[in-house]
Amino acid sequence: MSILIQGGRVVTAADDYFADVFIEGEKVHSIGKDLKVNADRVIDARGKLVIPGGIDPHTHLDMPFGGTTSADDFESGTIAAAFGGTTSLVDFAIQSRGESTLKGLDTWHAKAEGKASIDYAFHMIITDMPDERLPEMQKLADAGVTSYKLFMAYPGVLYVDDGTLYRTFRQAGENKTRICMHAENGIVIDEIIKAAVKDGKLEPKYHAATRPTRMEAEGVHRAIAIAEVAGVPLHIVHLSCADALEQVKLGRMRGVDVQAETCPQYLFLDESFYEKPNFEGAKWVMTPALREKWNQDVLWQGLRLGHLALVATDHCPFCFKGQKELGRESFTKIPNGAPGVENRMTLLYQGVQKGHYDLNRFVEISSTAAARTFGMFPRKGTVAVGSDADIVVFDPDKRVTISVNNPETHHMKVDYSSYEGFEVTGYPDTVLSRGRVIVSKGKQETRGGGRFVKRALSGELLR
Ligand code: URP
Ligand code: ZN
Ligand code: ZN
Repeated sequence: MSILIQGGRVVTAADDYFADVFIEGEKVHSIGKDLKVNADRVIDARGKLVIPGGIDPHTHLDMPFGGTTSADDFESGTIAAAFGGTTSLVDFAIQSRGESTLKGLDTWHAKAEGKASIDYAFHMIITDMPDERLPEMQKLADAGVTSYKLFMAYPGVLYVDDGTLYRTFRQAGENKTRICMHAENGIVIDEIIKAAVKDGKLEPKYHAATRPTRMEAEGVHRAIAIAEVAGVPLHIVHLSCADALEQVKLGRMRGVDVQAETCPQYLFLDESFYEKPNFEGAKWVMTPALREKWNQDVLWQGLRLGHLALVATDHCPFCFKGQKELGRESFTKIPNGAPGVENRMTLLYQGVQKGHYDLNRFVEISSTAAARTFGMFPRKGTVAVGSDADIVVFDPDKRVTISVNNPETHHMKVDYSSYEGFEVTGYPDTVLSRGRVIVSKGKQETRGGGRFVKRALSGELLR
């Protein structure tokens, strides 16, 4: 199958020019002005942007958490991602405490295989790492799992102590792999939560009140210090606030190999969402929590200036009915997480509209930086000869209202939208994954066919 994308404005993290893109099979074959080729299909991209498919390096599909399981599996989650212009995601496989990480990886392969419509990779969530298990980390790297998430939060569930952090960081550094850190002082936060519960403070808004930004900043500071001593590249996930970003800047200024991601929810939503009546605030119970609104300006600035490397969703959807409701009696029982994998690209494009950054930076933070950080570049994350034909023909003028009731914007298997009623300009028109048209003009053309991406080591290229 060959496809010619004709007359579009090709934008990568570095370039911006008008050209045709010719795809043969799964790869970009050639790019040039007025290409004279015979293609099986021609896509008219006049007036549209031709950009690399989005890469969301932080999703939780089919994930058991908080006594339930996230509502999107690899089938619905990857279809929703494609509708929103994302063509690769990096999900989190989980090691059950006391068990092999390799067993955890097998479990997640089984969840994804044959279901995904776009390509996917895995980080491994490490929940314990005694000395005798350390050699497994090399085996994970050999299997293409070249980054690991550890948690300073959720004591008794995913939390690991500083000794485990250091041991794992050192091994990851030696293996030329990367650490992803959920940085929040979960031990102190648990004490604050206990006191709140004792005082009868049980509504969703106390989720935010019990997780001060200072405790996120402390986690970021500690993670950076440990990574610096252990000698491993560090990626702070779901950074939510100015306090935490300050610590990233300080670490970078003294030369530590640390970078951070933020998420659309921290750019567009704030703690006032927890005040919604009838328990509705539970929809936005996520960790870290939504913050005071002024933090948003600092995060947008961080994206513009490069202090923040990229934007992921932390897509972890739980239905309001039957799942979020588990916490009606106490916010401590509300499953943490919110949907967003379908909304990320258009929301980030609003940053261009509002003048926060230019088109190249939009492509970088939505695709290229994730590909580079997580060992998928240049196969993914750019439009270039020889790269996978993961391409979005993006209509910069299309206006839509994001809503759970709008069939154009909601394919996630969850009964609410985090961004209900948001009016956005700029939306994907056609979405290709390795040369297959997955979505065109709001219609799904292809189902399945997504493949596992065996990622390269930190700093290496994936051809
Ligand atoms: O609330 C969140 N973020 N849920 C998913 C788990 C995590 O911490 O990333
Ligand atoms: Zn986390
Ligand atoms: Zn997460």
